[in-house]
Amino acid sequence: MTARRPGRSPRFLAGLAVGLVAVATALSACAAVPPNVPTGDRIRDTVPTGVDFGTAIEGGRTSRALDDPTYVSTVATTFTSVTPENQMKWSIVRPDAASFDFAPADQVADLARRNGQRMRGHTLLWHGGNPSWLTGRSWECSELRPIVKQHVTTLVSRYADVVREWDVANEILDGGANLRTSENPFIAACGIDIVKDAFRWAHEADPKARLFLTDYDVEGVNPKSDAYLALVKDLLAEGVPVHGFGIQAHLDNREGAPGSVQANLQRFADLGLDVAVTELDVKVPLPMAIPSQASLRRQADVYGSVLDACLRVSRCTSFTVWGFTDRYSWVPEYRPGYGSATLMTAEYEAKPALNTIVDRLKQGRR
Ligand code: G3I
Repeated sequence: MTARRPGRSPRFLAGLAVGLVAVATALSACAAVPPNVPTGDRIRDTVPTGVDFGTAIEGGRTSRALDDPTYVSTVATTFTSVTPENQMKWSIVRPDAASFDFAPADQVADLARRNGQRMRGHTLLWHGGNPSWLTGRSWECSELRPIVKQHVTTLVSRYADVVREWDVANEILDGGANLRTSENPFIAACGIDIVKDAFRWAHEADPKARLFLTDYDVEGVNPKSDAYLALVKDLLAEGVPVHGFGIQAHLDNREGAPGSVQANLQRFADLGLDVAVTELDVKVPLPMAIPSQASLRRQADVYGSVLDACLRVSRCTSFTVWGFTDRYSWVPEYRPGYGSATLMTAEYEAKPALNTIVDRLKQGRR
């Protein structure tokens, strides 16, 4: 016979531990849910497998939002993915050609790691968000190319544990569907080759990252998205590691989304690409400070229609809103006369759009 050691049995202690963890989890979940957000399960728990529900995280060199406990707890309970709104742009990361400032991007990456969320890297090559040392002069390709290579390699390697999708090339076509040969300093110096190189360097730095082209005004089937389709075919034929196509969808509640979003996403998916909604918001014209209920219902329909399109395309891997509370939205400053573009008011009250999104997420893939 073996003598029993005094004290509780291992099974009792294991049960006690499980119970304590459950209580702690329940308490932390209660504490994390801000007022007026649909409660019950955490919203992030309703997100179907194979797609992320993401948000842009406000900030630049500093972030007001990340100092706001309600913002931080809402991010944690609502989303499965985050995108730095500005923190990975050259203007923030590259104070000069020789050095890096990772602190703002690290703050977002640490948030994602803490929350067990994935991250979308935004963005490596864009004509906007660039520092004056880069845009204030013209460059020989031989001089700029190594700087870009170092930039892409450094960022993609640094965040390889947490970034699943990278917006490698953002908005490289203009309104006429032509390559931005003068506005984009990288393309101005090196032509389309720098885009191809950026994809190759990113792939070398993190072979498992999904590498995207993204733009606005390409939500539906139109001449600009046609031009992207042709470009993607050329890039794939050359063996460039392009893995995804993202539509931004900065929409407004009167025009809504085009009827062909699903068909457009599907035709890129049919090339073997992942597709994503990378920056959705739906602004409302604001003749008065508070939008009408009818405007908000219309806004909810627009959000719902874009999410439906994504959920109906099996290769749609992420659905990201460009901010989730009007408290920190970019819209009023950059689109005067418009506002109320996000899912929650400035006081974190859920708008009809958030309820619509949660309902659609619960319905799952179509
Ligand atoms: O961080 C500085 C701060 O130090 C300074 O005091 C302040 C003074 O203006 O500026 C702050 O930086 C601003 C930054 O947002 C953070 O607030 C920049 O001036 C401002 O230009 C920047 O605007 C961003 C814009 O891209 C340009 O980079 C918007 O927040 C951001 O929502 C917007 O996002 C873009 C996507 O990246 C690409 N697709 C379109 C989308 C909307 O324009």
